[in-house]
Amino acid sequence: MAGIYLHIPFCKQRCTYCDFHFSTNFEKYRGKLIFAMSNELFLRKKEVLEEIDSIYFGGGTPSLLHKNEFTLLLDTIFTNFTVNPEAEITIEVNPDDCSETKLKDWIDLGVNRLSIGLQSFKEGDLNWMNRSHNAKQGLDAVKNARIAGFQNVSIDLMYGLPNLSKEEWLLNLSNAIELNPTHISAYCLTIEPKTIIHNWVLKDKFIPLNEEYQNEQFLDMLYFLSKEGYEQYEISNFAKGGVYAKHNTAYWEGKYYLGVGPSAHSYDKKSRRWNVSNNNTYWKNVGLNETWYQEEVLSSEDKWNELFLTGLRTKWGVLKEKTNEFGGLKEEENKLIFNYIKDGLIIEMESAWLLSTKGKMQADGIASSLFRLNKKINN
Ligand SMILES: C[S@@+](CC[C@H](N)C(=O)[O-])C[C@H]1O[C@@H](n2cnc3c(N)ncnc32)[C@H](O)[C@@H]1O
Ligand code: SF4
Repeated sequence: MAGIYLHIPFCKQRCTYCDFHFSTNFEKYRGKLIFAMSNELFLRKKEVLEEIDSIYFGGGTPSLLHKNEFTLLLDTIFTNFTVNPEAEITIEVNPDDCSETKLKDWIDLGVNRLSIGLQSFKEGDLNWMNRSHNAKQGLDAVKNARIAGFQNVSIDLMYGLPNLSKEEWLLNLSNAIELNPTHISAYCLTIEPKTIIHNWVLKDKFIPLNEEYQNEQFLDMLYFLSKEGYEQYEISNFAKGGVYAKHNTAYWEGKYYLGVGPSAHSYDKKSRRWNVSNNNTYWKNVGLNETWYQEEVLSSEDKWNELFLTGLRTKWGVLKEKTNEFGGLKEEENKLIFNYIKDGLIIEMESAWLLSTKGKMQADGIASSLFRLNKKINN
């Protein structure tokens, strides 16, 4: 089983918090870039011998693509790779792009899952985030997706926002539930370097919400969503009826994925590759078959670190049999885990270690404390 990720680096406008790779000025070269992505897929077809069970258009804003651009990319995939007929085909969409025509196009193209970036139902939050849609467009997008025939709809929400009160966050969650999505991704606002809000913080124009308050919103969300039948299968991801996202799950389980497009990452269990985060360099270099990526062979320590970083975030935890492939826990790691169990941060099961709810609020810190010193082998 393997996945293909396609990064569409176009956006209408810059959201204040976002540090993903995208450009807002892309009309001049959009055709060349999509053609280069199709070319990259073709050039790399021999890398994937396994069946593809997930195709994921992420971004940026994939919903800005024209139907013929999607067709080119999907045709290239179906012609050059073995795709499972049941493959999950997801597009990340922004609500203001969900017109009746586009929704119908996506159904016609065989897309069977939408991930809709609602973020909030509160107008003030959407303005603060500089989103290109309002709250009503968010609601309508989900409703119209259903009417168009999408059964598998995921909603993205954000919390830990400066002016989002506990009551407003609970209201956002209850608005989300009313739309009955199969899946919810809810992210706590992080302040990334070089974003607009980071600049505001530096200029004292915005004071981030304190961690305690963000944790409170996290706990409110866990209680609320589990009451409504949503299972937390990863720290920020919740599914109803076991409808986990294949794309995300494959990533957390360390399965093979091929990433195409500017800034996309690939992973083949032995090495990691990342494409250049510059649109013009990307399409020009792919066209000339000149290097458009960097690659790193993963050391045993890298693989160990990855196992804890991703495994601890999921409901499956870090499987003990996987640590055995590395010779099991070293004495100091054993002691650390013992102490985390004693402090109620890690739960020990027969076959795995899992984070407790308290542990989930310190996931990255706990994982990194168990990292092994890196002996890098660079290509
Ligand atoms: C990069 S966006 C791409 C999808 C689409 N363009 C959108 O905006 O909905 C993917 C998701 O990452 C989340 N995200 C991006 N930056 C974030 C940040 N700094 N803190 C928390 N969540 C963030 C948002 O919830 C967003 O829906
Ligand atoms: S959050 Fe989405 S729409 Fe906003 S800038 Fe980032 S990728 Fe683009």
